[in-house]
Amino acid sequence: MGKSPASYIGGDFSRIDGPLKCSGRAVYSSDFNFPGLLYAVPVCATIASGRITGMDTAKAERMPGVHVVYTRHNIGPLHRPGKGDGTIDEKRPPLSDDTIHYWGQYVALVVADTFEQATDAARHVKVSYQEDTPDVSTQLAAAEKPDVDTERGDPESAFASAPVKVDHTYRSPPETHNPIELHASVAVYDNGHFTLYETTQSTMNHRKVMAAMLGVPQEQVKIIMHYLGSGFGGKLWPWPHALLAAAAARNLERPIKLVVSRKMMFESVGHRTNTQQRMRLGASHDGKLLSLQQDYLWTRSREGDYKENCGEATGFLYSTPNLRVTAGYARRDVGYPTAMRGPGAVPGLYAVESAMDELAVALDMDPVQLRIKNEPKVDETNGHPFSSRHLVECLTTGAEKFGWDKRQAKVGSMRDGDTVLGWGVAACSWMAQRLPAQISVQLNADGSAHVASATQDIGTGTYTVIAQMVAQLTGIGLDRIEVKLGESTLPPGPLSGGSMVTGSMVPATDEATRAAISQLLHTATGSGGHFAGVSADQLTLSEGRVHRKDQAPDDGVPFGKILADARVDHVSGKGQSKGSGDDPKEKKLSIHSYGAHFVEIGWQPDIARLRVRRVVTVIDGGRVINTRTGRNQIEGAIVMGLGMAMLEDTEYDSRNGAPINSNLADYLVASHADTPEIDVTFLDYPDYALNALGARGIGEIGLAGFAAAVTSAVYHATGVRVRDLPVRIEDLLNAPEQSAA
Ligand code: MOS
Repeated sequence: MGKSPASYIGGDFSRIDGPLKCSGRAVYSSDFNFPGLLYAVPVCATIASGRITGMDTAKAERMPGVHVVYTRHNIGPLHRPGKGDGTIDEKRPPLSDDTIHYWGQYVALVVADTFEQATDAARHVKVSYQEDTPDVSTQLAAAEKPDVDTERGDPESAFASAPVKVDHTYRSPPETHNPIELHASVAVYDNGHFTLYETTQSTMNHRKVMAAMLGVPQEQVKIIMHYLGSGFGGKLWPWPHALLAAAAARNLERPIKLVVSRKMMFESVGHRTNTQQRMRLGASHDGKLLSLQQDYLWTRSREGDYKENCGEATGFLYSTPNLRVTAGYARRDVGYPTAMRGPGAVPGLYAVESAMDELAVALDMDPVQLRIKNEPKVDETNGHPFSSRHLVECLTTGAEKFGWDKRQAKVGSMRDGDTVLGWGVAACSWMAQRLPAQISVQLNADGSAHVASATQDIGTGTYTVIAQMVAQLTGIGLDRIEVKLGESTLPPGPLSGGSMVTGSMVPATDEATRAAISQLLHTATGSGGHFAGVSADQLTLSEGRVHRKDQAPDDGVPFGKILADARVDHVSGKGQSKGSGDDPKEKKLSIHSYGAHFVEIGWQPDIARLRVRRVVTVIDGGRVINTRTGRNQIEGAIVMGLGMAMLEDTEYDSRNGAPINSNLADYLVASHADTPEIDVTFLDYPDYALNALGARGIGEIGLAGFAAAVTSAVYHATGVRVRDLPVRIEDLLNAPEQSAA
């Protein structure tokens, strides 16, 4: 049933793919099976640094069901990608030499009839090593010659002469992505052509990289990813297992399934690097920021050029005449770091917002007021105006909803029975950009619509919001719009990262839908058509019906009937969005999303129990297309932020470099039981800088700043400032004695 056009945007809509997922009919990448399919299981290095001196595969090769054991001698050609060959963090092709850079690096691959046989045989491949002492330390020494990310004024002298200052170093540990869906590849090879069923956040980039590394033209590689059990950035770029699966399929001319184990996911498919950030803030007695310095460090693997851009939001978040952000890294014998939800800004804002809270304490000033006092008028990194910025309203709205005016500033002074309460606040920001995007829209004689793009839905609701965009322009009900995504042969769509898909797809979908409607109206006015003799520009399509603009939809004709009667099967249109970087007008605007988190924690000193009790979050993310999937994104990010603040930490064994808590029993992530009521508000100011719907994109911003709100709340309750995440009970057991309220 049709609705009035505008009502499809901004409403609360269930996912159109929800019933498929709930009934188990959604086919995920590792669910694909083919006749003759074989299972591949990698053999993983048991040192973190050194070289392979020998390998005995004879026993494994003789084991039941085993077809082959691949090593660097027989895996066949795999190439290093060149410039322009797409993005991959680990550029070294798997099995290319005897050097070991990290624990768990693949050293061989067993292929067998069953997963169990391959697993068993992989255990019987004997590898000998010459082992060097690995360095997996997360302690980082200040960079001698750091890069300057952004700078203005004279921050050193302004800091030296500032009447009030804070100077502290904040550390965040390596975090491992733990999407419930394991990484997996099912590779099918046919006469030079690869069809690869992958767990990827970008079918187009995956195709480019795989073609380059397999040494075939891109036209001979097809990537399929219909559903993702989440990725969090860990599935943005290809990883070595995908190359091994494809090479094995090519060599054996049999379909190959390779599912990465949970343990391997702590080793060879990326992680969020640890960070160490020195923050120096200087202010006047009345709370005006005079100087802000952030010197951040992160860890790289022995190879690779990943940058954790912790200063992303620092330059424009607050007004200050003097500022410098510097970046430096150290190399360690660990697997490759990669983007993890809110890369850069999430650890970066933990440090910036913690330092702001410490400054508020030093000033004896309310932390909300301190932020409002330093609200900038323009983006001070470049003087550009903000496209749309409502950070102050996020803070004031959040404060009101939370009841912030009842906060007693004195540490440990708020109680609920025996529980000491702590209230904390933090601001947040996330980038908003548009990536190039293409899509096609087809209107069918059976009254349905078909929409197709190679972009993917990684669990965020992309299927649904694209259908909403088409419904808004046509009035065709969501149940009659079929959206096809996640195949590299469809019109090239953007990667699902940086919270950019929705904002990127708007102009392309708009153009494609309008082109299809124009074809439809042209058909309607053809000879013998329902509107023969009427000019197409006197017609319109609404509620799924073609009608004269001066008449109601009910006086018109269902669009499917127009096509059927004209013996036309379908009409279609193509649309294309440009990337926002290509538009000179957009380059002169500062386009970002903003938000504020308010957190209440409860600390029960007698039983050493720390809980997050209450969260109020207000997000300024432009127009929200779907309040249900939008809220779901922010809630999910907050749960992840709770994990970052209180639980997540990948521990490397200093003796051998192994991630030792490489399972979901020992690596703690936040679960429902850790999650309090989360109150999410969207301010919903459309930002037309990026697209006609005013959508900037939401998701990652919900995680940014959250850990700082928690540690500030912990300080407010206990007097303990945790500058080394996560907050541990041990940190609080030494809390200064609390005076009773
Ligand atoms: Mo996100 S870390 O950009 O997938």
